[in-house]
Amino acid sequence: MRSGNAVNKANKATATQLEACISTSIELNGVRLHLAVKASSELSDVERERIWNIFESNMRLLYAASSFGWDPHSKKEEMFHPHARLVLCERCDDTTSGSEPFPSESRIVAYGILRFEREAKQDVVYCYELQVAEESRRLGVGKLLTSALLDIGSQWGMKKVMLTVFKANNAALAFYKFLGFDLDPSSPGLAEDDGWQDEDELDYDYVILSKSIL
Ligand SMILES: CC(C)(COP(=O)(O)OP(=O)(O)OC[C@H]1O[C@@H](n2cnc3c(N)ncnc32)[C@H](O)[C@@H]1OP(=O)(O)O)[C@@H](O)C(=O)NCCC(=O)NCCS
Repeated sequence: MRSGNAVNKANKATATQLEACISTSIELNGVRLHLAVKASSELSDVERERIWNIFESNMRLLYAASSFGWDPHSKKEEMFHPHARLVLCERCDDTTSGSEPFPSESRIVAYGILRFEREAKQDVVYCYELQVAEESRRLGVGKLLTSALLDIGSQWGMKKVMLTVFKANNAALAFYKFLGFDLDPSSPGLAEDDGWQDEDELDYDYVILSKSIL
C-alpha cells in the first residue's frame, strides 16, 4: 500500500470495522469488561461527560503544573476531534439482574483515544489519551486498551503506536516501559544514551514514546 493511503483508508473506517479488530468481552482477575469502539460523533452526552470527568480527575493537576497548562476548551476539542476514535472499557461485574447485555454508560471505567496520522513519513496510531479511573487500576485494563490500539493499528496497516507523556507522570512512564514502549526518535528528550529522561533537556516537560507494530 502506498505511503499515506493507509491513514486515509483507516480514517474512513467505521467504528464497527475498528471494533471487529479487538476482543470485546474480556475477564481480568474476575472482573468482566466490555470494550466498544466509537467515533467521537457517536458518543452520547452522558458518555462524553463521564469521559471528561475521568480525564479531569486523573490529569488536571499534571496539566496545571505543565507547560501545556489546564485548558479544558482546547483539550475537549482535541479529545472529541472528528477523527478521534474511542475505545471504551465498561465494567460489567456488578450487573446483578443478568438481563442487561451491556452495562449502562456510566460504567465506563477506562478508555483510549486514537487517531490515524502520518508522522515523520510513517503511518501511525497516535494515542491521544489512555485513562483508567482510579478504582480500576492495576487490573490490567491499561494493558488491555494498549493491546487494542496495537491490534487496530496492525489490521489497518499502521507502523507504530505513538503517544506523549509528561516527564512528571512516573506511573505512566513505568507502565509504558513495562509494555515495551521506547523513546521515539522525534522525542525532544531523546538522549545520546537512549535514556528515558534527559536532564539536559529541561525546556521540555514531556517525552514522545512509541512501540512498533510488527
Ligand atoms: C498509566 C495507567 C494508564 C496504567 O493503567 P492500569 O490499568 O493501572 O495499568 P495495568 O494494570 O495494565 O498495568 C500493567 C503494568 O504496568 C506497570 N504499572 C502500571 N501502573 C503502574 C504504576 N502506578 N507504577 C509502576 N508501574 C505501573 C506495572 O508493571 C503493571 O503490572 P502489575 O500491575 O502486574 O505490576 C493508569 O495508571 C492511568 O490511567 N493513570 C492516569 C492517566 C494517565 O497518566 N494516563 C497516561 C497518559 S500518557
